[in-house]
Amino acid sequence: MRVSIFLISIIIVLIACQEQSVMEDQAYKYRTPSFFPKPTIPQDNQATTARIELGRRLFFEKKLSRTESMSCATCHVPSMAFTDGKARSTGAHGKLGKRNAPTLANLLWMPYFMAEGGVPTLELQALAPLQDSIEMDMSMRDAIHRLEKIEKYQNLSQTAYNRPIDSYVIIRALAAYQRTFISADSRFDKWYYQQETKAFTAEEELGKKIFFSEKAACMKCHSIPQFTDYQFYNIGLYENYADAGKELVTYKKSDNGKFKTPTLRNIELTPPYMHDGSMRTLEEVIEFYNTGGKNHPNKDFRIQPMNWTKEEKGYLLAFLKTLTDWNFVQNHTFLPLEQ
Ligand code: HEC
Ligand code: HEC
Repeated sequence: MRVSIFLISIIIVLIACQEQSVMEDQAYKYRTPSFFPKPTIPQDNQATTARIELGRRLFFEKKLSRTESMSCATCHVPSMAFTDGKARSTGAHGKLGKRNAPTLANLLWMPYFMAEGGVPTLELQALAPLQDSIEMDMSMRDAIHRLEKIEKYQNLSQTAYNRPIDSYVIIRALAAYQRTFISADSRFDKWYYQQETKAFTAEEELGKKIFFSEKAACMKCHSIPQFTDYQFYNIGLYENYADAGKELVTYKKSDNGKFKTPTLRNIELTPPYMHDGSMRTLEEVIEFYNTGGKNHPNKDFRIQPMNWTKEEKGYLLAFLKTLTDWNFVQNHTFLPLEQ
């Protein structure tokens, strides 16, 4: 009797150990730099290699769009810092969306998603493009129907989340993968955080002074380390906004034309600019800030005419280009796996 209890407990311990070693084998640690704050990862979606691999396949999966012609990566191209180079993105049926595809970098630190901040988690965000009739135009049910026929997805789903592929799995795997998009290796990072004094040229130093000056106040909203404070502002792009911005979620007139401050990391690689892609180049953006924008009752008080010289505008541009992280856009672990 005693022996068999002993045996059973040994077996239980062995099984438990095996369970654990599988889990340990899969656990994945996001490569977060020491100079960023500690991120929070949802308890029910801790990273494992299988979850990330599944998310990586789904991100490039064209079956996720009604017409099987477009994946997440159609609008979020890795080599363009996950943008698409278009003013406004075109969806599965060729219809023009209303916003510019934003860069997807350092999503681990983003407190809410979309230009008006209407989506609270990265997991939930995936539902928006999938189901939007102007974007991928898929119902979750149809997406699952298509994917569950594919053995690779079924197997990966079991390994990753211990259940058949469904909406629970799809949105979590996409989020687990997108959290690997960490960009912290620009020349700015080398200079500021890693103290490589020779990382900057004289021009870039001068541009940095303007960026961090009280007068230009760029850093008040585009604050370090993410070059955004994740707050919402009207910067006076228009007297009348076609897109109401944050007002769409709060229904307050005082939020009309307010958009989430975009990160400036990799900004050189993500034209065109602004929520509607209305500015083609960084020179145009700098000229916009130089003139102080249009009048609007909600416009932030810091957006004022700057009267910069041609040289000063050049310095600011040079500084903005130090935020480019070439390793980020060449990172092969972001690229599609063979299907
Ligand atoms: C048709 C082009 C298109 C497709 C396809 C697309 N996106 Fe997007 N994505 C956009 C646009 C445009 C926005 C900005 C939306 C907004 O602010 O309202 C966006 C926003 C996002 C954001 C929020 C970023 C932020 O700064 O708040 C994430 C994350 C994202 N997309 C991930 C995905 C994922 C995952 C998929 C696939 C399931 C996907 N996208 C498919 C165009 C697209
Ligand atoms: C009051 C806050 C605030 C200040 C100050 C500010 N910005 Fe912005 N910036 C924003 C917001 C908000 C947007 C997005 C506006 C939109 O899309 O309607 C933006 C957009 C941008 C963009 C385009 C980003 C993209 O991905 O489309 C660039 C580049 C930029 N700002 C650079 C600067 C520079 C340089 C300065 C200093 C001269 C500056 N900003 C000052 C809040 C600010």
